[in-house]
Amino acid sequence: MNDVIKLLLSHRSIRKFSDQAIDQETVNTIVAAGQAAATSSNLQGTTVIQVNNPDSRAELAQLAGGQKYVSTSSTFLVFCADVKRSAQACALQGGEFTPGMTEHFIIATVDVALFAQNCVIAAESLGLGICYIGGLRNNPADVSKVLDLPENVYPVFGLCLGYPEQDPEVKPRLPLDAVLMQDTYDESVLEAGIAQYDEHMRSYYRQRTGGKKDSNWSVEMKALVGKESRPHMRSFLHDQGFTMK
Ligand SMILES: Cc1cc2nc3c(=O)[nH]c(=O)nc-3n(C[C@H](O)[C@H](O)[C@H](O)COP(=O)(O)O)c2cc1C
Repeated sequence: MNDVIKLLLSHRSIRKFSDQAIDQETVNTIVAAGQAAATSSNLQGTTVIQVNNPDSRAELAQLAGGQKYVSTSSTFLVFCADVKRSAQACALQGGEFTPGMTEHFIIATVDVALFAQNCVIAAESLGLGICYIGGLRNNPADVSKVLDLPENVYPVFGLCLGYPEQDPEVKPRLPLDAVLMQDTYDESVLEAGIAQYDEHMRSYYRQRTGGKKDSNWSVEMKALVGKESRPHMRSFLHDQGFTMK
């Protein structure tokens, strides 16, 4: 196994950071690594907002559901899907932007995910810890106000970065058999894969919490997909110009 794969397999989210700052040159290097990710049609639909203002950080921490590491991590980045810049380029050429296309929304959102994960790998390779913050989508309109986001731009998630002050275990993943299929989608592997993973996760949680957390993956999925999830997203995206044509 090479060092890159070792690094990937050792990922775990970090939610406690030391006070040590990350210098701006390092942040720039991390974001440049993000920019190097593949991007659909070279649209480059990502804008990263580095939030330095402590008041904004505190507000975003609240808007993300009271996640204090949003304000305590050394660096906090918000990854935005951005179709505005390409619309502007289109106008520069005398073209008329076609707003609201679902395909543009998908392109920009996928671009953001690839860009961010490149940043994560770069950061982890430098000994930093990270935690994605999808909690920003609890209150996306207020987050957009704090960041002054224009139409055709929306916050996909945030990213806390800093020097780790904890050393959690790697969280197990589903068995490969349940994820990697050959030629066609094979529903018959799901049940066994989930059962195996549930067992694995139950003992992982018990061990991590000294027996306090008695849960497993399917219990968590019931809580997640067994109810509506951020139902405000549709109208928020619509108001932001992503009308999904
Ligand atoms: C897009 C995205 C959003 C996430 N949002 C949050 C969040 O708001 N708060 C948090 O503590 N963790 C968040 N996470 C971290 C996940 O909970 C974590 O990645 C998952 O449980 C797997 O654990 P691991 O990263 O330690 O392997 C998010 C992860 C992703 C990819």
